[in-house]
Amino acid sequence: MRLQNKTAIITGAGSGIGRAIALTFAKEGAKVVIADWAEKGGQETVEMVKQAGGEAVFVKTDVSKAGDIEKMAGACLENFGRVDILVNNAGIVKGGPLHQTSEEDWDAVLSVNLKGIFLASKKIIPEMLKQGQGKIVNIASVAGLVGFENSGAYCASKGGIIALTRAMALEYAKNKINVNCIAPGIIKTAMTKDMLDNQAIKTNFEAQTPYPRLGEPEDIAMATLYLASGESDFVTGEVLVVDGGFIAK
Ligand SMILES: NC(=O)c1ccc[n+]([C@@H]2O[C@H](COP(=O)([O-])OP(=O)(O)OC[C@H]3O[C@@H](n4cnc5c(N)ncnc54)[C@H](O)[C@@H]3O)[C@@H](O)[C@H]2O)c1
Repeated sequence: MRLQNKTAIITGAGSGIGRAIALTFAKEGAKVVIADWAEKGGQETVEMVKQAGGEAVFVKTDVSKAGDIEKMAGACLENFGRVDILVNNAGIVKGGPLHQTSEEDWDAVLSVNLKGIFLASKKIIPEMLKQGQGKIVNIASVAGLVGFENSGAYCASKGGIIALTRAMALEYAKNKINVNCIAPGIIKTAMTKDMLDNQAIKTNFEAQTPYPRLGEPEDIAMATLYLASGESDFVTGEVLVVDGGFIAK
């Protein structure tokens, strides 16, 4: 197993990509902390991990709140005694033309998607420094690499994640803490459901994706597994694009 005896915190693991990461990590031997602000989805993921024979705990966490991040770290240390892997996956999207985007929506997107990664990393890095190694994987998006209309706040947050990932990678490489990010393309989750339920939009995305299907949460989970495992020890500051060729053109 590729994550035997490892402990991982996965934010936003109550749904979609985060849930797939939790299930994949548990299958590979990791004990997982499911950190999500949605209690129902988070508890469901815990049950799914347990039914598959793994170990998991849920901690209700809003990643944009420092107090919740304290609780998240505390729950991991109390239950499992260490933190080897942090996957910063929680994210939200609020679309619309920039001139119609409210200050509240801008702040919400940046607080969850970008500040959440700052808060969680700030809290967990000291544990990794004590342990002498660690893996941080941030879930960005192709929207951090190319522009999408009506997604200014989201694109800015994801571009910020890529910049933050590189800065953190430089800062902690000497401490054997790897910091990488993944840029998913269009993945079938709750976040994209409304969009993909519109047949015209779905057909358009399919036409723009060279690989002959859209992405599944498991596609991102497998890439995250690589970046969380010892197989990627010499990889840091990288942006791994997992998009079926969407932005290769
Ligand atoms: N689905 C896609 O096409 C796609 C593409 C690129 C990037 N992403 C990114 O992947 C990540 C996961 O998205 P998904 O598609 O699985 O969406 P999703 O909506 O299925 O899952 C997001 C999860 O994050 C949780 N969450 C939201 N805000 C939170 C907060 N403040 N604190 C804690 N948990 C919070 C939600 O409750 C939910 O369980 C996000 O960062 C998203 O931006 C998704």
